[in-house]
Amino acid sequence: MNDETPEGADGPVEVAMNKAQLVVVGTGYRAIGDLTVEARACIEQADKVLCLIGDPLVTHHIGQLNPSIETLNVHYGAGKRRQDSYEEMVEHILSEVRSDQFVCVALYGHPGVFAYAGHEAIRRARLEGVTAWMLPASSAEDWLFADLGLDPGRRGCQSFEATDFLIRHRVFDPTSLLILWQVGVIGMLDRDLEFDGRPGAVCLTEALVAQYGADHPVTIYEASPYVTAAPRMTTLPLAKLPDSSMSGISTLVVPPLPQRPLDQELLARLTGCR
Ligand SMILES: C[S@@+](CC[C@H](N)C(=O)[O-])C[C@H]1O[C@@H](n2cnc3c(N)ncnc32)[C@H](O)[C@@H]1O
Repeated sequence: MNDETPEGADGPVEVAMNKAQLVVVGTGYRAIGDLTVEARACIEQADKVLCLIGDPLVTHHIGQLNPSIETLNVHYGAGKRRQDSYEEMVEHILSEVRSDQFVCVALYGHPGVFAYAGHEAIRRARLEGVTAWMLPASSAEDWLFADLGLDPGRRGCQSFEATDFLIRHRVFDPTSLLILWQVGVIGMLDRDLEFDGRPGAVCLTEALVAQYGADHPVTIYEASPYVTAAPRMTTLPLAKLPDSSMSGISTLVVPPLPQRPLDQELLARLTGCR
């Protein structure tokens, strides 16, 4: 970003400056309001802005801050493996960085939460000697804590990607809060707008019922992008989950089972009162 030319005795000295830098910023969920002052400054000062944002209002706003904007959405395609799309996005980002530019990549939510392209672009840029960093923003989980009045500090909190949770039989503690991401697209490897999420929801329900029982209440959560619209917070018994509508923006919240009894002996050792 620093392109000042130092003055030498015989006039300006030509110094080869490497201008290549990469910053990956989040835009959060609340349209425009979640954009931090620092992220906005990076967007304004960048030579090139690349973005992956669902909300056209936010994309438009960022385009007004910096007309160089280009969307990474073009790398998605019907029937294309999602991983291939992400690889193309990473290479697209790096190609801009390699043309010696200050590149700002704006991703919705927190750019490093359940998001491959930002972390990977930073990792590869650093391998090439480029200064690269990430600026956080509100993730779906941050909004969920606020909207549902949940504090991860009370009972602990576990977050899993839903497909990974199932196929790797993730070990978790049902007496602690459980958050499952991408519950509406379990098993979806390709970009498929017609994807039927029901078979995945059935498998997830079976796995959860085995731990929590069929009547355990769960909440399907969808943060609202606008101040004027309420978030979706649908609470239903676990057994009814396959009949509910879930989409690519749904996150599932499974409240904890009753607390385990305290280990009194350990507590006494910790607090020193024997
Ligand atoms: C690829 S991840 C991206 C997460 C994002 N980077 C973040 O920080 O929240 C997509 C998943 O995020 C969650 N998600 C996306 N939009 C959401 C919304 N409006 N409300 C709740 N969860 C959402 C869903 O679990 C969705 O399947």
